[in-house]
Amino acid sequence: MSLTRVPRPRRFLTCAPRYFDVRYAINPWMREDTEVDTDLARAQWETLIRAYRDHGHRVESIEPVAGLPDMVFAANSAVVLEGRVFGSRFHAPQRRPEQLAYERWFKAAGFDVHPPESVCEGEGDLIPAGPYILAGSGFRTTRAAHQEVQEFFGVPTISLLLVDPYFYHLDTALFVLDDRNIAYYPEAFSPGSREVLERLYPDALIATRDDAMAFGLNAVSDGRNVFVTPQATGLIDQLTDRGYVPVPVDMSELHKAGGSIKCCTQEIR
Ligand code: ARG
Repeated sequence: MSLTRVPRPRRFLTCAPRYFDVRYAINPWMREDTEVDTDLARAQWETLIRAYRDHGHRVESIEPVAGLPDMVFAANSAVVLEGRVFGSRFHAPQRRPEQLAYERWFKAAGFDVHPPESVCEGEGDLIPAGPYILAGSGFRTTRAAHQEVQEFFGVPTISLLLVDPYFYHLDTALFVLDDRNIAYYPEAFSPGSREVLERLYPDALIATRDDAMAFGLNAVSDGRNVFVTPQATGLIDQLTDRGYVPVPVDMSELHKAGGSIKCCTQEIR
């Protein structure tokens, strides 16, 4: 295909994995007895940051806080659209102190933060996609938060139900390729939600279970370049066929906590 995809420069907020660890288990990927190689996690994370910058994206960082081992997963901190910040309210008590740290960062960067009333975990489950916000529930973010986010932004919010605990956040089962299209793993969704996705995205890229389990859908696209885990080989072939440019970044050490590329990346729109 001779299609030329056009990238859009992004602004990202990230958090170095200085205190990254697996000390509690709040999703099926995590095991309390897991040993984490902090140096490797740091090196993988730095490779991601370099890849973003090499492709023209602006990357900022929040100071990591000791005792918050999941703070590296910046995508859970908020949803930001047109400079308006809808904050987070974490499901797990272990992650709740992250809210304050991120809120402080946003305030210092000149943003007002709207504190949500219902449990919601930022872009992990609330994903801006062109004219919509795609919204996951089932494990973390509640349906009530979908309504809250729609009222706050005034953007049509599409509720999707996640049914497989390995895909506990929407961003583990789906990612946005550009304003018009997405990639996803259908079996992560309830039958009704699958139909909704088929209607909205008849031309979507469909991932296999192997690619999804490799965190292939926890990817970031700038409209042309797709930062994606190298283990998702089938997905990488499909992206290439559709005219996208895969940029493989290995985040295997972060997978031990149930996160990968997108989880480490908060977009500021
Ligand atoms: N250990 C973290 C948790 O379970 C991983 C978060 C991954 N973040 C994401 N956006 N999917 O909360």
